[in-house]
Amino acid sequence: MNPLKWMLPPQKSNFAGDVDWLFYYITWVSIFFFVLILVLMIAFVIKYRRRDPNDPPGEGPEHHLPLEITWTVIPLILVIFMFYWGMVGANEMATPPANAYDIQVSAQQWSWQFTYPNAKSDKDLHIPPGQPVVLTMTSQDVLHAFYVPAFRVKNDIVPKKYSKVWFTCDSPGDYQVFCAEYCGTDHSNMRARAIVYESREAFEAKMAILDIRPEGRSLEEHGKIMHTDKGCAQCHITTTPKPGQILLAPSWRNLSRDFGQLREFTDGSRQIVDEAYVRESMRTPSKKIVAGFGPTMPVPTLTQDQEDSIVAFIKSLKDTPEE
Ligand code: CUA
Repeated sequence: MNPLKWMLPPQKSNFAGDVDWLFYYITWVSIFFFVLILVLMIAFVIKYRRRDPNDPPGEGPEHHLPLEITWTVIPLILVIFMFYWGMVGANEMATPPANAYDIQVSAQQWSWQFTYPNAKSDKDLHIPPGQPVVLTMTSQDVLHAFYVPAFRVKNDIVPKKYSKVWFTCDSPGDYQVFCAEYCGTDHSNMRARAIVYESREAFEAKMAILDIRPEGRSLEEHGKIMHTDKGCAQCHITTTPKPGQILLAPSWRNLSRDFGQLREFTDGSRQIVDEAYVRESMRTPSKKIVAGFGPTMPVPTLTQDQEDSIVAFIKSLKDTPEE
């Protein structure tokens, strides 16, 4: 049993064992030399201290070639070992196998969108068990980083650039995806679930129903869920702002009451708020920026039904009482 085990979460991917092995190796080498050097330093300070204020300074130390070679060569071998295993691991992590399952990742302030080979997307990462998965990642706005501690997988996500990670996980379960690069106010809330399914069938069954509104759920109800799931809620609030809260985008609170009223945009133009305007803003968010706000909204990936749902939800927003 490694006494440092408590430092790391359970190992849940093909990389976890090797990553931890190297991590423990570096940790233990560092601890060993830290203790060795500190103990010797304290011992020498005591042993060679000046015993009388009138003592003259001692002779300076002579060179000791065998000792100098020893303390150069041993650490050199230890760090070459670190470099070698680090390089082997980095190479392996940078080379996804040919049979990998492709998932596209889009990061934005402050949510994730995972898009699957069937062109459906979700805010959570669904993983087939036992098959290598490769994530092709990009950002809609600023730097983010994809990180699943249990998988020991982490990589930067850069706007206008694609980065990759891959891994294989055999252990069904629900793991935590974190953003590991400070990206603004809600960085610490930029999380998702990484769900590894019991079987391929269970995974495919989930793929089949992604992006589909469950039977019996109304458009309005579904729109309310999409408001959160598709990341709208990160900027478009539907509640009364808290004192001092800075709005990052026009509030949706009682938005349907604004239907029929004029809205002014940053370029000085104006338009009446109606359903067509709301739909246009979802499809081409940067076209008309409401005065006082910045062009920060990325183009959301929405099916027609999801767009209809969000519109139905917006139309229902009229009776939030003043607080
Ligand atoms: Cu995204 Cu931090």
